Amino acid sequence: MNGAGAAVPGLGNRAKDRAGNGDSDLKPFKTLDDMGDVRGKAVLVREDLNVPMHDGAVTDDTRLRAAMPTVNELSDKGAKVLILAHFGRPKGQPSAELSLSQIVQPLSDVLGRPVRYIDWEGDPAAAVAEMQPGDVAVLENTRFFGGEEKNDPKVVDRFAALGDLYVNDAFSAAHRAHASTEGLAHRLPAFAGRSMERELDALEAALGKPQKPVAAVVGGAKVSTKLDVLNHLVAKVDHLIIGGGMANTFLAARGVDVGKSLCEHDLAETAEKIMDAADAAECTIHLPYDVVVAKEFAANPPSVRTCNVHEVAADEMILDVGPAAVEALADVLKTCRTLVWNGPLGAFEIAPFDAATVALAKTAAALTKEGSLVSVAGGGDTVAALNHAGVAADFSFVSTAGGAFLEWMEGKELPGVKALERD
Ligand code: 3PG
Repeated sequence: MNGAGAAVPGLGNRAKDRAGNGDSDLKPFKTLDDMGDVRGKAVLVREDLNVPMHDGAVTDDTRLRAAMPTVNELSDKGAKVLILAHFGRPKGQPSAELSLSQIVQPLSDVLGRPVRYIDWEGDPAAAVAEMQPGDVAVLENTRFFGGEEKNDPKVVDRFAALGDLYVNDAFSAAHRAHASTEGLAHRLPAFAGRSMERELDALEAALGKPQKPVAAVVGGAKVSTKLDVLNHLVAKVDHLIIGGGMANTFLAARGVDVGKSLCEHDLAETAEKIMDAADAAECTIHLPYDVVVAKEFAANPPSVRTCNVHEVAADEMILDVGPAAVEALADVLKTCRTLVWNGPLGAFEIAPFDAATVALAKTAAALTKEGSLVSVAGGGDTVAALNHAGVAADFSFVSTAGGAFLEWMEGKELPGVKALERD
């Protein structure tokens, strides 16, 4: 199979239309459009407010902005919006450092409306009863309950008692089968929020039913962390572009001397198996044939040079894909209609080893703007790399998810998404 159109894992087949033919516009999950009149109703909205903080300030408010469309729409429609979210990993131990009370003001600033804070300690039901239609509140960290991560029915009951309806808007937490991400969907009428909906639509367009040919860029340090991703992708895409330290493991498996580059030599056999599986699926694996090397990992080191991949010296490290290979990869993208991107091509945090990532990201962004490519990116360092290239806004879709995006790329079913499927 090569780029075949299987559905996004966790979404099952697309919902059938009334005639039962499938492929209707009906989404496989209910959305805010299916909620009916929400005026005066208490709606529990699962968001991902797990934002990075430094010295008490939010350092990246992307996830707060992702919450805005759903929260403001429900508030405008007169619902009492009760936001459920986790913050860090308190493992059932309440603490001031991981209290969501710190996020109330930054969220209010982003939403442009007041946000209340409701603690589980007091009388949350009374606090909800006092709310007026349109009011928004953040409930304290769901992980202050030990049973949240165990999907304990008692915790599901605790949450469900406060609301009439449930909306899951947190794709980035949907790989967790927790009370607030999965259990509640079985207890209350459940809907996908706007950010969740956008994310699922983008993923469907990227690997579910993509326009072909499809390319995937997979970078990052270690093959061992992305084995399932690679195995899944070779059966789904036409071109698999491997970058970062991972490429060294593949090059070494092909007999290339990679000097003192980061390389998992013990995974040579695994890399060969992935290459065999790619051959069988008619997926072309692209590895760099020229590379940027240096003797030390530092900004603009004196030893930096570009060479053929067969000319790496014993005391050199491969730190980026070379310019000739990047040009060839750009030509590959020009023949493709869909791109999925996860991970940088080189050590992009330090110049000049960001050059390949920046150049290829710019090509992808330009093709997307022209309308010839659907580009979807996500996971780990990817957003930082695309921001660094200054093109994140030009991609068709950039996911806010880390672990959930990777699990999706591995072809895994995400419990929080699965639970939203229509019956
Ligand atoms: C994330 O930050 O990726 C999500 O909020 C999930 O957090 P978790 O890995 O602690 O479940």
